[in-house]
Amino acid sequence: MKRRTLTKYLTLSAIASSLPVALAACQSSSDTASTDSITTNNKPVKIDSTPRDDGFAAIGTVAELDEKGFISDKAFFAGSLLLIRDPGDTSALIAVDSLCTHQGCSVDWESDAGVFACPCHGSSFNADGTVATGPATTALKTFEAIIEEDLVLVKAIT
Ligand code: FES
Repeated sequence: MKRRTLTKYLTLSAIASSLPVALAACQSSSDTASTDSITTNNKPVKIDSTPRDDGFAAIGTVAELDEKGFISDKAFFAGSLLLIRDPGDTSALIAVDSLCTHQGCSVDWESDAGVFACPCHGSSFNADGTVATGPATTALKTFEAIIEEDLVLVKAIT
């Protein structure tokens, strides 16, 4: 092999090997947002939030839910999401759109009172999303939610 040919070959090889790194650096963080990695019980757990064929998408782990008492996902496909265990049947889950139906503030789950409370104008919603106190007059939108193995899934697509 001639020296000039060898130099060309090595240059092309160096460019080709650095291409994946360059492409990864150009990728925005939202491009990779569908897969999160969290740690529960010192075990890394991969959460792929891409909706499955049945429309369900993982939003967290059972351990995370039980540790915090809720799971919040403001970037969920179908809206801003807040998920709790049903206070009346802790084997069931309740997932609501966390945007208040009055003027769109984010509600918080207040477990002691058993309501989703809005900090802006005082509306509160029962655990099933129905209005407890106004000024809101419309219930929070709800989503179907299930547990499969260690994961909490919410139906993103109906
Ligand atoms: Fe929630 Fe007004 S935005 S009560």
